[in-house]
Amino acid sequence: MPQHVRGVIAPGRNEPVRIETIVVPDPGPGEAVVRVQACGVCHTDLHYKQGGINDDFPFLLGHEAAGVVESVGEGVTDVAPGDYVILNWRAVCGQCRACRRGRPWYCFDTHNARQRMTLLDGTELSPALGIGAFAEKTLVAAGQCTKVDPAVAPEIAGLLGCGVMAGIGAAINTGNVSRGDTVAVIGCGGVGDAAVVGARLAGAAKIIAVDIDERKLAKAKEMGATHTVDSRTADPVEAIRELTGGFGADVVIEAVGRPETYRQAFYARDLAGTVVLVGVPTPEMKLELPLLDVFGRGGSLKSSWYGDCLPSRDFPMLIDLHRQGRIDLGAFVTETIALDDVEKAFARMHEGDVLRSVVVL
Ligand code: APR
Ligand code: ZN
Ligand code: ZN
Repeated sequence: MPQHVRGVIAPGRNEPVRIETIVVPDPGPGEAVVRVQACGVCHTDLHYKQGGINDDFPFLLGHEAAGVVESVGEGVTDVAPGDYVILNWRAVCGQCRACRRGRPWYCFDTHNARQRMTLLDGTELSPALGIGAFAEKTLVAAGQCTKVDPAVAPEIAGLLGCGVMAGIGAAINTGNVSRGDTVAVIGCGGVGDAAVVGARLAGAAKIIAVDIDERKLAKAKEMGATHTVDSRTADPVEAIRELTGGFGADVVIEAVGRPETYRQAFYARDLAGTVVLVGVPTPEMKLELPLLDVFGRGGSLKSSWYGDCLPSRDFPMLIDLHRQGRIDLGAFVTETIALDDVEKAFARMHEGDVLRSVVVL
């Protein structure tokens, strides 16, 4: 029997979000219905609402979530009803050329539930990043559910489903930060702070946080940055060089997604160093660099998709490290809110004093 639940939809470009009754079908083959317990409010949800991702309105928003599997469809063996899971938006296929070559974190054919959730009148909903978790229950592909230790509260665990995983993964997976490395992080929102946490976890010797907002720099320091640079008052490239013996950092993580900050990252790294782009640019942005500098400075320029994470490997590991007190994922939760407060949370994002608002159901 399809179920009726409350969920937050974005009805049309720039229209306020609202609560609607959502029809959740029973899970078909390879699918699961999850009772959502918590879901963080991410910039990507706001981009959907603004029409910045595509025009497939209405969207069922929310994608940074944890909850309990309620039911599974035919052929599902990895998760079972009652399992506590974090939802991911890159369920790997196991069949594409990346998966077959043993690099499933690059999977080029990730998948979502086949059936659609709808409004009461039958209008099909587009779930944000194939999840749609600002709802009491949601339908996903079973591969989007990763079982983790239930001892960690859902408002904390769910954050690994998107921004926090992207940032930690940018440092430990894409940037390959190692013991003794110097690391700079440009842009210290939720993603950049998570990169700071990842760099610290990996044993970086120096972690330099760069931002244009002093509140963000203070928070980055709490998260493990050893030095901060306010790039409104100091040239970040010069400052990073000065803090690294005149050379630049081994790994520079760009967590803003703009050409200016990418250029800073490019020139703030040491010879043969690594730049990681985890900030997401917009379609009109262009980058111009002297090709001789690209060649002459060597090293690698990498992009980080979702922290190049493999949910089945990384989510349980990070949850365990949090339980052991070796990382503090709770520090990313600024406030917990109700399902009705998502619109207000979007407004608060702009004020810059929130790392994450998390809807608790
Ligand atoms: N130089 C340095 N920092 C900057 C600059 C700049 N020119 N412009 C903005 N920032 C800082 C902001 O002050 C803020 O602290 O970058 C940070 C961005 O943080 P958030 O807006 O909270 O965004 P976040 O959720 O961390 O995501 C960052 O990663 O996944 C992507 O789409 C996401 O592109 C976005 C980026
Ligand atoms: Zn694949
Ligand atoms: Zn997100």
